[in-house]
Amino acid sequence: MTPLTLICFYLSVCLLTHAGELKHQTIANDNPEITLTKFAYGSCWKSTHSQKHWPVILENKPQLWIWLGDNIYGDTSDMDLLKKKYNLLGATEGYQNLAESCPILATWDDHDYGANDAGADFSMKKESQKIFLEFFNERPDSARNKREGVYSSYYFGPAEKRVQVILLDTRYFRSHLKKGEGKPPYKRMGKWIADSSPTTTLLGDAQWRWLERELHQPAKVRFIATSIQFSVPHHGHETWANMPLEKQRMIDLIKKTKAEGVVFLSGDIHSSELCITEPQGCYPLVDFTSSSLNVPLGTSNTHQRTGPAYGGANFGLVQIDWAAVDPVVSISTKDNQNQTRLHHSLHLSDLTFSEKNLIPQTSIENFARKWQTFYGAMTIKKDADGKWHASCAERNLKLRPSATGLSGTWQGVNSSGKVSFQLSRNGRFLRGKHSEGALPLQLDWAAWQPDWETHFKRDDYHLRKKKK
Ligand SMILES: [Fe+2]
Repeated sequence: MTPLTLICFYLSVCLLTHAGELKHQTIANDNPEITLTKFAYGSCWKSTHSQKHWPVILENKPQLWIWLGDNIYGDTSDMDLLKKKYNLLGATEGYQNLAESCPILATWDDHDYGANDAGADFSMKKESQKIFLEFFNERPDSARNKREGVYSSYYFGPAEKRVQVILLDTRYFRSHLKKGEGKPPYKRMGKWIADSSPTTTLLGDAQWRWLERELHQPAKVRFIATSIQFSVPHHGHETWANMPLEKQRMIDLIKKTKAEGVVFLSGDIHSSELCITEPQGCYPLVDFTSSSLNVPLGTSNTHQRTGPAYGGANFGLVQIDWAAVDPVVSISTKDNQNQTRLHHSLHLSDLTFSEKNLIPQTSIENFARKWQTFYGAMTIKKDADGKWHASCAERNLKLRPSATGLSGTWQGVNSSGKVSFQLSRNGRFLRGKHSEGALPLQLDWAAWQPDWETHFKRDDYHLRKKKK
């Protein structure tokens, strides 16, 4: 062995030893001394892809990093291999720098759990949990070291600024998903269909009971980290919408516990988007999805999101302005150049059971304005004679007031159908549905006010189209 080879050998041993030695910072579940004002989160990371996001995340100086799942692509029942794949993350210099700078909180999704779309029947789930907890340096005395599943909660700040972070486990207890065919022309993106059987479970009984206790705890804002999307309607991939009763159970639990301040953070879909659902008797439930850190797949083929999506590599950044009279929670999707691609701000007063959040603050007149949609700009007008109409690209729409908003027909160059629009409670977004020909209303036509686009580039939501 030449002296140079010897030096190289020594250096690689040092590097591997160092990699194996990455020890995540330990953190208590309750941290009243840390007022949380900024944290970052993300999902879907591959060791084989670009790592240039890490310094950008670090540049934002987050107080925490939250893993939303698919933290590695383990995809194996071989636990030695799974461990090795975690160690590749541990050996990544950019990640080591981030882990040195702030505590890391983590939950998992299917690929780091062990298999694509896996649930309770994954045979190595106990062993996988052990490896997960060891890798993230879980405190020996922590609750999730003593129970099944990786769900957990953390608290930050004094009472008047208390933030609760709830990490859900959407894998360990989840029952079988139901496969099915889509009905044309609505082709779903994935193979799963909604299963309303009362025996299906996403969180499992023990986790539901724990979550109820958690939601009773006082907090000003509660970030619920769920690996799969919560607020998005059914689209065929894994979402809460595959188990409508479980989704409703979450809504009912938030209502029952009077838990204010809930914001969902999700990952999994390899693009970033904002979805808002407005359940009866509950304030609007915002779900901000950030995915993927380095395996971007362009924007997804659903038009059901609230506003456009971003299909490049991204991470999420959450900031809380406690100094404001009505504190502001700002959530951004950032790209690898630290540019903000999507942005949504909420006041804490938007996340309460006050009447303004439960009933529409709009009238039919709020439809009359310019909107942006996935199909292009749309202008809705009301004529002097009281007739409503709209134009969107080559489509002309004849509309009339209905029980839920506006409905009517649309006419394109070679096609036509029915359409209906409903305003969001605050009037910033439209939920639209349309049909082609005589088919029922089953296609989506979401719209948003152009000012929502201040923080993103218009071409983002055409990204997928261009790739075709
Ligand atoms: Fe996933």
